[in-house]
Amino acid sequence: MRINVVVLPGDGIGPEVTAQALRVLRLAAGAFSHDLACREMDIGAAAIRTHGVALPESTLQACLAADAVLLGAVGDPSCDDLPHVQRPETALLTLRRRLDAFANLRPARTDAALIDATPYRPEMVAGADVLIVRELLGGLYYGEPRGLSAHEGHNTMRYTRDEVARVARVAFAQARQRRGRLTSVDKANVLETSRLWRQTVDDVAASYPDVQLQHMYVDACAMRLAMEPTYFDVILTENLFGDILSDQAAAFAGSIGMLPSAAIGGRVGLYEPVHGSAPDIAGTGRANPCGAIRSAAMLLRHSGGMPREADLIDDAVRAVLEAGIRPPGLGSRGGRAASTSEFGHAVSHALEELIDHQHAYHAV
Ligand code: NAD
Ligand code: IPM
Ligand code: MN
Repeated sequence: MRINVVVLPGDGIGPEVTAQALRVLRLAAGAFSHDLACREMDIGAAAIRTHGVALPESTLQACLAADAVLLGAVGDPSCDDLPHVQRPETALLTLRRRLDAFANLRPARTDAALIDATPYRPEMVAGADVLIVRELLGGLYYGEPRGLSAHEGHNTMRYTRDEVARVARVAFAQARQRRGRLTSVDKANVLETSRLWRQTVDDVAASYPDVQLQHMYVDACAMRLAMEPTYFDVILTENLFGDILSDQAAAFAGSIGMLPSAAIGGRVGLYEPVHGSAPDIAGTGRANPCGAIRSAAMLLRHSGGMPREADLIDDAVRAVLEAGIRPPGLGSRGGRAASTSEFGHAVSHALEELIDHQHAYHAV
C-alpha cells in the first residue's frame, strides 16, 4: 500500500515527540513493504518565524493533498499576546476545519505496567479504558460572532442537528466495537445547544439498539471520571467539554504524555497527541513520546488501512512498558525514567523484534 503523510512537528516538545513517532511509523510501514512518503512542513510559532504566518498556504495545501497528517504540538509563550487570527492555536483550528475532521477519538487507559504510576490506588484504575469522542468542529471554538474589546469579550456556542448527528454516529459505531456502552455528556439543564444535542443523540440511538445509551451532565461526568474512571466505556461530548475531560483522563493514564488522538470524518485524518507544546520541558529530553507514537498507530489504523501494523506499534509500546522501562515523567520509585529518545529507541527495538517474529511465523 502507498500512504502519503504530511508531518507537522510544530513547537516546543512537538518536534521531539514527533521524531520518535516517525521512527516507529517508518519501521512499521517498511516492514510490510508499504510505500510511506513523509513530508515535513511548518506550522505554529515555527512557521511564524520562517513564513510570517502560523499556517502557511503551502502547509495547508500539502495537508489537503495528503492521506494523513501527523502533528506534534503548536503554541509558544512568545505568541501569547497575538490576536486570535495570528495565533498558532488558530492555525490548528483552521487546519482541523479545512480537513473536515469532525470526530476526535481520544482513547485513555491505565496501562497495566503503569498501575502504580498514577495518583490513584491501583484497584481504582485496574482496567480503566475510556474512549472520548469529542466533537471537533463546532461549539464555542468556532461560533460566530466572537470578539474582544477593552470592555467585553464574547463567544457564541452553536450546534446544528447535522453536526451532532454525524459525530454521534461515530461514537455509537465505536461503542459497538468496544463494550457497547455510550455516555453522552452535555449541560442540557442550562444550555439550548445541549438540549439539541440530547434530542439528536436520542434520535441517532434508534439505529444502534445494541448500544446502551446514557446521558450525563458534564459536571457530574467530571466528578465520576475522577472518582471512578472504570465506570466509562465511550464518552461522547461537544468540543470544549471534550477538551477538558480528555486532559482530566490523563490522571488515570498516569500522564498527559500517554494520550494519543485521531481526528477523523474528512478525507484526510489528523493525528496528534492530546498534550501541548509543554514549553516548560522543551529541549530537556523529558517529553513522553507515547502519545505521539500511539497517534502514529492510530494513523495507520484509520487512514492507512493497516490495522495489523497499528497493532504492532501498540504491542511494542506495551512490551517496553512491561519490560519495566518508564517513559519520561513516569519513573518508578526504584528506577529512573528513560529520556524521550531512549524510550523511542526502546519502542523501535521492541517493534523490530515483533516484526521479525511475524515474518518468521509467516515463513513457516
Ligand atoms: P501542555 O499539555 O503543553 O502542558 C501541560 C503540562 O503537562 C506541563 O507541565 C507539561 O510539561 C506537561 N506535559 C505535556 N506534555 C507532556 C509530555 N509529552 N511528556 C511529559 N510532560 C508533558 O499544556 P499547556 O502548558 O497548557 O500549554 C502549552 C502550549 O501548548 C500552549 O501554547 C497551548 O495553547 C498549547 N497546546 C497545544 C496543543 C496542541 O497542539 N494540540 C494542545 C494543548 C495545548
Ligand atoms: C487540544 C488543544 C487544542 C484544543 C488547542 C491548542 C487549540 O488543547 O488539542 O486539546 O483546545 O483543541
Ligand atoms: Mn486540550
